[in-house]
Amino acid sequence: MSAGNREVPRGGKKIFELSEVCFGYKEKEVLKNISLDIAEGESLGIVGESGSGKTTLLFLLLRLARARKGTLLFYGQSLAEMTGKGLRNFRTRVQPVFQDPFLSLDPAQKVAGIIGEPLVSLGLTKTKDEKKERILRALEKVGLGADSMNRRPAEFSGGQRQRIAIARALVTNPEVLIADEAVSALDIITKVEILTLLHALKEGGNFTLIFVSHDLPAVADISERIVVFNRGEIIEDAPSRRILRAPSHPRTRLLVESGLTLDGNR
Ligand SMILES: Nc1ncnc2c1ncn2[C@@H]1O[C@H](COP(=O)(O)OP(=O)(O)O)[C@@H](O)[C@H]1O
Ligand SMILES: [Mg+2]
Repeated sequence: MSAGNREVPRGGKKIFELSEVCFGYKEKEVLKNISLDIAEGESLGIVGESGSGKTTLLFLLLRLARARKGTLLFYGQSLAEMTGKGLRNFRTRVQPVFQDPFLSLDPAQKVAGIIGEPLVSLGLTKTKDEKKERILRALEKVGLGADSMNRRPAEFSGGQRQRIAIARALVTNPEVLIADEAVSALDIITKVEILTLLHALKEGGNFTLIFVSHDLPAVADISERIVVFNRGEIIEDAPSRRILRAPSHPRTRLLVESGLTLDGNR
């Protein structure tokens, strides 16, 4: 992609600045020269076919993996160099919601334990009451009642489990929410419900949403700006309406015109 094509986020300060980031597994190149800025308050969508490197990019953004080359900055600070308190602070401010609520929630734990986990691991609450209060507030934000606290994931529907996963992310009061295929395992009605919830949370809160999916309609629904991935490279980065009306890359055009997802999975 040419530099002139690159969309510079308007307004807010830059949260993430990636430049020429490369990553791979053994000899396999997965991310090739990724440069990307993400600003405060954005709702950014990342789309691309399965295997294009979206989750890998999120792992780097969450510092669950390290780049092979290039720099990743969080508010100007190198992610690679974060340790101890700085890293805990980062983990409080940037929270993930992972793909499959059936797999990402520990079936043996009660919901209170699941949602409270980041509070414990990050040392965010001092008393039991404070912890309970924050768990209740997180449940409330996602439309679940206090009675959910003592139940286990198996007692909930797919949509409710995704709400639990979102509550777990919200419990730290993050500034950035990174959702990876957060609605991909859900039926269409539930998908719309969860997208509506994320949208409402975004509108009501003061955070930045990074929404990643192979499902372009879902991404377009929730994002003001879309970055399109193809084989580990960014092939397009533009406001959603421009991507939908006038996609510049043939791969994106195909996707928009066909109304299908990139991997034809719908
Ligand atoms: N742990 C791993 N070891 C080796 N290859 C991996 C691993 N995880 C992902 N890959 C490969 O990296 C590429 C990008 O994967 P991923 O980031 O999961 O893509 P996406 O999220 O867009 O579907 C794929 O080719 C995948 O097979
Ligand atoms: Mg993925």
